[in-house]
Amino acid sequence: MPFIPLRPLLDHAAANGYGVCALNVNNMEQIQSIMEAARATKSPVIVQASRGARKYTNDIFLRNLMQAAAELYPEIPFVMHQDHGNAPDTCISAIRMGFTSVMMDGSLEEDAKTPAGYEYNVAVTREVVNIAHRFGVSVEGELGCLGSLEHGTGEKEDGHGAEGKLTMDQLLTDPDQAVDFVKRTGIDALAVAMGTSHGAYKFSKKPTGDVLAMGTIEAIHKKIPNCHLVMHGSSSVPKNLIDEINKYGGKIKETYGVPVEEIQRGIRAGVRKINVDTDNRLAITASIRKSMTEKPEEFDPRYYLTPSRLAMQKICEERMRQFGQAGHAPSVPVVTLDQMAKDYAAGKYGENAKPTNDAAQHKGKGTGKAMAH
Ligand code: G3H
Ligand code: 13P
Ligand code: ZN
Repeated sequence: MPFIPLRPLLDHAAANGYGVCALNVNNMEQIQSIMEAARATKSPVIVQASRGARKYTNDIFLRNLMQAAAELYPEIPFVMHQDHGNAPDTCISAIRMGFTSVMMDGSLEEDAKTPAGYEYNVAVTREVVNIAHRFGVSVEGELGCLGSLEHGTGEKEDGHGAEGKLTMDQLLTDPDQAVDFVKRTGIDALAVAMGTSHGAYKFSKKPTGDVLAMGTIEAIHKKIPNCHLVMHGSSSVPKNLIDEINKYGGKIKETYGVPVEEIQRGIRAGVRKINVDTDNRLAITASIRKSMTEKPEEFDPRYYLTPSRLAMQKICEERMRQFGQAGHAPSVPVVTLDQMAKDYAAGKYGENAKPTNDAAQHKGKGTGKAMAH
């Protein structure tokens, strides 16, 4: 099966009431884990690469690994997605590389640390939509900054994330502003901020509604029921994996992730793409630590990579079943990029999703100021 864009997959997910996990990859083994899980559960997949992944793996290696996966698993509808593009140029280079979907994260400035002004976010996102839709490539935007409602801070764990203190206005996507943002940018999917953050340290105890604001998602969905919503930072951080890592010499402090039942609640409220990376990292690390401790005399990487690949596959299968995408691979429509480009131009996805020439005049620098709601 050829690569497909994100939009028709999320349209299919919405029509059938399921969500799709978007899984990060950095190497061959992770791609293999995802594809085996997809085959075992008959799931469509969104395979995503961050800027860090593209740098670590190298674009040519990455593209060829993705192509190998599409060739070896022809029955699996496959979206190749750029995670957290920090600037239009990152998205453009991804499109040139063959990605069928890009995220323009204009909630932060190009440094991927400074919260951006609202008009800056609209302008850079619109600019990417304008280019991407000409090629039939889908676009995800983000409104609001990921970060902790417990501490009022951005996330520090990954390279991509707001630094320092943030206001509640910045940490929670405003539903009215979401309406304006989607209308003005013409995006295919909207990532929202509601208390999740990247990495393992999301919550100090099992989250309740004050720190994991699922109500915000529901309020946004009510205002824009036809917009596909995206939850970032959606790893569940399973306790058994933390325990296993620590049992074999790791040092992970007590921490809590996003409970799967909360994600399922989100799926009932329009969440169609759920980003998961940390859970897979934990599964791989737990497995490798165990293998190395049990047989310290081994030095063939295949000895510890083979079970770690299976450990990640297990997590992926679980999420594919829990989010409801399992079983849907055969019925996802195969839409080519050329067809999508024609459809956007014809206004099938709404006039705002049509490429226009006026986006260029919005092009400009961010204000550097915090986003005002
Ligand atoms: O955006 C967050 C993902 O977990 C990717 O992380 O930037 O370390 O590759 P990364
Ligand atoms: P986690 O760190 O919760 O897995 O989130 C990943 C993510 O949002 C990637 O964009
Ligand atoms: Zn993310």
